[in-house]
Amino acid sequence: MKKALYAGSFDPITAGHLDVINRASKLCGTLVVGVIQNPSKASAFTGEERMDMIRRATSHLSNIQIDQFDGLLADYVLRHQITVVVRGLRATMDFEYEIQMAQMNARLYHDQAETIFLMTNPEHSFVSSSLMREVFALGGDISGLVPDCVLEMMMKKAVTSKGE
Ligand code: COA
Repeated sequence: MKKALYAGSFDPITAGHLDVINRASKLCGTLVVGVIQNPSKASAFTGEERMDMIRRATSHLSNIQIDQFDGLLADYVLRHQITVVVRGLRATMDFEYEIQMAQMNARLYHDQAETIFLMTNPEHSFVSSSLMREVFALGGDISGLVPDCVLEMMMKKAVTSKGE
Protein backbone atom coordinates (compact mmCIF):
# COMPACT_ATOMS: atom_id res chain seq x y z
CA MET A 1 0.00 0.00 0.00
CA LYS A 2 1.40 3.36 -1.06
CA LYS A 3 2.39 6.06 1.41
CA ALA A 4 1.50 9.42 -0.09
CA LEU A 5 2.23 13.01 0.92
CA TYR A 6 0.05 16.07 0.40
CA ALA A 7 2.05 19.09 1.55
CA GLY A 8 1.30 22.79 1.69
CA SER A 9 1.12 25.81 3.93
CA PHE A 10 -2.57 25.15 4.79
CA ASP A 11 -2.87 28.64 6.31
CA PRO A 12 -5.67 27.70 6.79
CA ILE A 13 -6.88 24.43 5.22
CA THR A 14 -9.77 25.17 2.83
CA ALA A 15 -12.63 23.15 1.34
CA GLY A 16 -10.46 22.84 -1.80
CA HIS A 17 -7.63 21.22 0.16
CA LEU A 18 -10.09 18.99 1.98
CA ASP A 19 -11.57 17.79 -1.32
CA VAL A 20 -8.07 16.82 -2.52
CA ILE A 21 -7.39 15.04 0.81
CA ASN A 22 -10.69 13.11 0.64
CA ARG A 23 -9.98 11.92 -2.88
CA ALA A 24 -6.26 11.22 -2.39
CA SER A 25 -6.95 9.20 0.77
CA LYS A 26 -8.85 6.66 -1.37
CA LEU A 27 -5.84 6.14 -3.62
CA CYS A 28 -3.24 5.21 -1.02
CA GLY A 29 -2.67 3.21 2.15
CA THR A 30 -1.60 6.22 4.20
CA LEU A 31 -1.86 9.89 3.32
CA VAL A 32 0.48 12.17 5.21
CA VAL A 33 -0.73 15.77 5.26
CA GLY A 34 2.44 17.81 5.71
CA VAL A 35 2.27 21.36 7.02
CA ILE A 36 5.17 23.41 5.70
CA GLN A 37 6.32 26.73 7.03
CA ASN A 38 6.93 28.68 3.82
CA PRO A 39 9.54 31.36 4.68
CA SER A 40 8.31 33.61 1.85
CA LYS A 41 4.79 33.82 3.34
CA ALA A 42 3.70 35.48 6.58
CA SER A 43 1.44 33.01 8.37
CA ALA A 44 -1.83 33.69 10.13
CA PHE A 45 -1.83 30.45 12.11
CA THR A 46 0.96 28.65 13.94
CA GLY A 47 2.05 25.24 12.73
CA GLU A 48 0.27 23.64 15.72
CA GLU A 49 -2.97 25.50 14.94
CA ARG A 50 -2.83 24.44 11.29
CA MET A 51 -2.21 20.82 12.28
CA ASP A 52 -5.07 20.96 14.75
CA MET A 53 -7.49 22.33 12.13
CA ILE A 54 -6.44 19.61 9.66
CA ARG A 55 -6.86 16.95 12.35
CA ARG A 56 -10.40 18.13 13.07
CA ALA A 57 -11.36 18.55 9.41
CA THR A 58 -10.13 15.04 8.50
CA SER A 59 -11.41 13.16 11.57
CA HIS A 60 -13.78 11.15 9.31
CA LEU A 61 -10.80 9.58 7.50
CA SER A 62 -8.91 6.67 9.03
CA ASN A 63 -5.69 6.71 7.00
CA ILE A 64 -4.46 10.26 7.55
CA GLN A 65 -1.27 11.23 9.38
CA ILE A 66 -0.54 14.87 10.05
CA ASP A 67 2.98 16.17 10.33
CA GLN A 68 4.88 19.43 10.19
CA PHE A 69 8.26 20.04 8.60
CA ASP A 70 10.54 22.59 7.03
CA GLY A 71 13.37 22.38 4.53
CA LEU A 72 13.23 20.51 1.25
CA LEU A 73 10.10 18.55 0.51
CA ALA A 74 12.23 15.96 -1.28
CA ASP A 75 14.28 15.35 1.87
CA TYR A 76 11.09 14.62 3.81
CA VAL A 77 9.94 12.27 1.03
CA LEU A 78 13.21 10.33 1.08
CA ARG A 79 13.36 10.15 4.89
CA HIS A 80 9.77 8.90 5.28
CA GLN A 81 9.55 6.32 2.49
CA ILE A 82 6.93 8.36 0.62
CA THR A 83 6.30 7.01 -2.89
CA VAL A 84 3.55 9.37 -4.10
CA VAL A 85 3.36 13.16 -3.77
CA VAL A 86 -0.10 14.59 -4.39
CA ARG A 87 -0.75 18.08 -5.74
CA GLY A 88 -4.05 19.75 -6.55
CA LEU A 89 -4.39 21.64 -9.83
CA ARG A 90 -7.02 24.36 -9.82
CA ALA A 91 -6.55 26.00 -13.20
CA THR A 92 -4.02 26.52 -15.95
CA MET A 93 -2.44 29.25 -13.80
CA ASP A 94 -1.20 26.53 -11.42
CA PHE A 95 0.34 24.47 -14.19
CA GLU A 96 3.62 26.27 -14.92
CA TYR A 97 4.61 26.51 -11.27
CA GLU A 98 3.60 22.90 -10.63
CA ILE A 99 5.45 21.38 -13.60
CA GLN A 100 8.62 23.24 -12.63
CA MET A 101 8.34 22.00 -9.05
CA ALA A 102 7.48 18.43 -10.10
CA GLN A 103 10.41 18.25 -12.50
CA MET A 104 12.86 19.63 -9.94
CA ASN A 105 11.53 17.27 -7.31
CA ALA A 106 11.73 14.31 -9.72
CA ARG A 107 15.50 14.79 -9.80
CA LEU A 108 15.67 15.02 -6.02
CA TYR A 109 13.49 11.93 -5.38
CA HIS A 110 16.02 9.62 -7.09
CA ASP A 111 13.17 7.51 -8.54
CA GLN A 112 11.66 6.83 -5.10
CA ALA A 113 8.52 8.93 -5.67
CA GLU A 114 6.14 10.22 -8.34
CA THR A 115 4.15 13.45 -8.26
CA ILE A 116 0.49 12.98 -9.16
CA PHE A 117 -2.03 15.75 -9.82
CA LEU A 118 -5.69 15.78 -8.90
CA MET A 119 -7.90 18.29 -10.66
CA THR A 120 -9.62 20.44 -8.08
CA ASN A 121 -13.39 20.24 -7.95
CA PRO A 122 -14.61 23.22 -10.05
CA GLU A 123 -16.65 24.38 -7.05
CA HIS A 124 -13.33 25.25 -5.38
CA SER A 125 -11.25 26.41 -8.31
CA PHE A 126 -11.19 30.02 -7.07
CA VAL A 127 -10.40 29.17 -3.45
CA SER A 128 -7.04 29.91 -1.88
CA SER A 129 -6.01 30.35 1.73
CA SER A 130 -5.07 34.02 1.37
CA LEU A 131 -8.32 34.82 -0.46
CA MET A 132 -10.26 33.18 2.39
CA ARG A 133 -8.35 35.28 4.94
CA GLU A 134 -8.90 38.49 2.97
CA VAL A 135 -12.65 38.00 2.44
CA PHE A 136 -13.11 36.97 6.07
CA ALA A 137 -11.10 39.97 7.36
CA LEU A 138 -13.31 42.31 5.33
CA GLY A 139 -16.49 40.77 6.69
CA GLY A 140 -17.41 38.52 3.73
CA ASP A 141 -19.09 35.15 4.08
CA ILE A 142 -16.70 32.22 3.55
CA SER A 143 -18.90 29.51 5.08
CA GLY A 144 -18.73 26.33 3.03
CA LEU A 145 -15.38 27.37 1.54
CA VAL A 146 -13.43 26.42 4.67
CA PRO A 147 -14.22 23.61 7.11
CA ASP A 148 -16.48 24.72 10.01
CA CYS A 149 -13.68 24.22 12.55
CA VAL A 150 -11.53 26.65 10.54
CA LEU A 151 -14.25 29.28 10.51
CA GLU A 152 -14.57 28.92 14.28
CA MET A 153 -10.82 29.33 14.70
CA MET A 154 -10.79 32.39 12.41
CA MET A 155 -13.57 33.98 14.43
CA LYS A 156 -11.63 33.31 17.63
CA LYS A 157 -8.44 34.80 16.26
CA ALA A 158 -10.10 37.59 14.22
CA VAL A 159 -7.66 36.82 11.41
CA THR A 160 -6.47 39.70 9.27
CA SER A 161 -5.92 39.54 5.50
CA LYS A 162 -2.14 40.02 5.80
CA GLY A 163 -1.72 36.79 7.71
CA GLU A 164 -0.49 38.32 11.01
N1 COA B 1 -7.65 24.16 -3.07
C1 COA B 1 -7.59 25.35 -2.51
N2 COA B 1 -6.48 26.09 -2.46
C2 COA B 1 -5.38 25.57 -3.01
C3 COA B 1 -5.36 24.32 -3.63
C4 COA B 1 -6.57 23.60 -3.65
N3 COA B 1 -6.67 22.40 -4.22
N4 COA B 1 -4.13 24.10 -4.10
C5 COA B 1 -3.39 25.16 -3.78
N5 COA B 1 -4.16 26.04 -3.12
C6 COA B 1 -3.76 27.37 -2.64
C7 COA B 1 -3.08 27.36 -1.34
O1 COA B 1 -3.99 27.56 -0.30
C8 COA B 1 -2.16 28.52 -1.47
O2 COA B 1 -2.90 29.69 -1.23
P1 COA B 1 -2.21 31.01 -0.68
O3 COA B 1 -1.06 31.34 -1.58
O4 COA B 1 -3.33 31.92 -0.74
O5 COA B 1 -1.75 30.66 0.71
C9 COA B 1 -1.77 28.58 -2.93
O6 COA B 1 -2.82 27.90 -3.57
C10 COA B 1 -0.49 27.92 -3.24
O7 COA B 1 -0.58 26.59 -2.78
P2 COA B 1 0.65 25.65 -2.83
O8 COA B 1 1.26 25.65 -4.17
O9 COA B 1 0.27 24.36 -2.23
O10 COA B 1 1.65 26.48 -1.95
P3 COA B 1 2.01 26.17 -0.57
O11 COA B 1 2.85 27.28 -0.08
O12 COA B 1 0.82 25.84 0.26
O13 COA B 1 2.90 24.83 -0.79
C11 COA B 1 5.01 23.75 -1.17
C12 COA B 1 4.01 24.76 -1.68
C13 COA B 1 5.12 23.85 0.32
C14 COA B 1 4.55 22.36 -1.51
C15 COA B 1 6.38 24.05 -1.82
O14 COA B 1 6.66 25.41 -1.62
C16 COA B 1 7.46 23.22 -1.22
O15 COA B 1 7.65 22.08 -1.58
N6 COA B 1 8.23 23.81 -0.27
C17 COA B 1 9.33 23.10 0.41
C18 COA B 1 10.67 23.64 -0.05
C19 COA B 1 11.11 22.92 -1.29
O16 COA B 1 11.25 21.73 -1.35
N7 COA B 1 11.36 23.74 -2.34
C20 COA B 1 11.76 23.20 -3.62
C21 COA B 1 10.58 22.81 -4.44
S1 COA B 1 11.07 22.07 -5.96
